[in-house]
Amino acid sequence: MKKITLSAIALSAIFTISTLTSCGGGESHEAKNETSTEVATETATEKVEVAEVEVDLPGKETFKTSGCVACHEPNRKVVGPALKDISAAYLDNREGLTAFLKGEGEAIVDPAQAAVMAPQIEITKVMEDADRDLIIDYILSIK
Ligand code: HEC
Repeated sequence: MKKITLSAIALSAIFTISTLTSCGGGESHEAKNETSTEVATETATEKVEVAEVEVDLPGKETFKTSGCVACHEPNRKVVGPALKDISAAYLDNREGLTAFLKGEGEAIVDPAQAAVMAPQIEITKVMEDADRDLIIDYILSIK
């Protein structure tokens, strides 16, 4: 999943750069494309490293005050799935997690238990976007 997304970033970067690069002709055009691939790969690697150092974010408190801790713990399934399993399921898919918490998505982690989570979505869907974003940052920071 991560690899597919990174390649997609690399490919779109190459596409943009080669679109911007005028086709001067044969050999020099080929050389420019190779350079673009290297630059795009480096950028993608940096993004992954930044994501991995995020720990103990302010959303931890929002997660607690919103009542989520009654059923979710970082590393262990309680009533709901462990946050690390939710984070893994939504790796590189922040949009999907946002949609779920806004009541616009489907359960992908433990669909058989979706009815237990459903009332909680009533809370997260009416929250300020900024608060929901803090919770999402927190969940995705758990590895
Ligand atoms: C009463 C227990 C309970 C509470 C409280 C609760 N959850 Fe859940 N949650 C569950 C269960 C059970 C699941 C598994 C069903 C599912 O995957 O949707 C789940 C799943 C999830 C998922 C994974 C969704 C998916 O795609 O499958 C997220 C994200 C989540 N909860 C976030 C939250 C947040 C944020 C709160 C606090 C506002 C919260 N939960 C409060 C029980 C709870």
